[in-house]
Amino acid sequence: MTTTRNSPSQRWHAAGLARALAAGTIGLSVVSGMTGCRGDRSDKPPRQFFPDMDDQMKWKSQGQSEFYADGRTMRQPVAGTVAFGRASVVSDKPWAASLMTQRSDLLRHDDAYYKGVGSDGAYLVRMPEAPTRAMIERGMERFNIYCSACHGYEGDGKGTVGVRWSYAPATFHDPKYRDATQNTGRDGYLFHVARQGVIGGDGKQKMPGYAHAISEHDAWAIVAYIRALQESRLATIDAVPATEREILERQRASVQPTATEGAASTASAGGAK
Ligand code: HEC
Repeated sequence: MTTTRNSPSQRWHAAGLARALAAGTIGLSVVSGMTGCRGDRSDKPPRQFFPDMDDQMKWKSQGQSEFYADGRTMRQPVAGTVAFGRASVVSDKPWAASLMTQRSDLLRHDDAYYKGVGSDGAYLVRMPEAPTRAMIERGMERFNIYCSACHGYEGDGKGTVGVRWSYAPATFHDPKYRDATQNTGRDGYLFHVARQGVIGGDGKQKMPGYAHAISEHDAWAIVAYIRALQESRLATIDAVPATEREILERQRASVQPTATEGAASTASAGGAK
């Protein structure tokens, strides 16, 4: 049996080793404490190492909440929210028609309707929707508000502002506004001018644009009305139905009355009221 005498440096090494082993043992037991219970059955509440992630303040979409007075967790979408998904699911439902219009207006992905141009970039010869009576009446109302001041109620370019304007407003009865072989005769171009105005070759704004005041729907309605104004000067009295013709004849008589007829029509109009 031999006695071993450790040198001071050897003793220091031994103490260091013992400390390292102790630290390793504690470390291992902590790790096994974290992982050891995974998958094991236990009646104790689970340990939570990141409780803020486990227990978030959140609600599931169809769940209940005490936070909001109506008890729902989901909020109603803000007015004007565009539903970008599932449009195809509802697009053909009659109740969705106005929603689909609003959606199209916000997206403006149809160049024909929103810019008046075809896929080749050229102005449309005919408007993208067939004009209806309601549309033409709307167009008349908007035309009289926004266009007649310069272009005149009859579209002849002699509006009260127009006759004093720095540039002569167009008369829509000029054949070039019906000739579809030129831009000026195309529905898409009239639509474009209504919203964007006219900038002359010198860069000056000859006609202001009205996009701020008239929607695409109204611009097409105005185009339909301009076509009606043009037609009104080209049609003959034979194109007017007999019942309407009588009304026109009476109106003409009251506009150009003889002394006695005028008195009579005023009296009868007064009596009818
Ligand atoms: C402030 C006066 C003014 C108002 C209001 C006005 N215009 Fe004009 N418009 C003009 C003038 C001026 C011209 C002629 C520009 C030129 O010399 O090319 C013109 C020309 C046009 C042309 C023919 C453009 C061309 O290239 O030949 C169209 C179409 C037209 N206007 C549509 C409208 C419509 C639709 C409205 C109503 C939304 C409207 N305008 C309102 C002044 C006006």
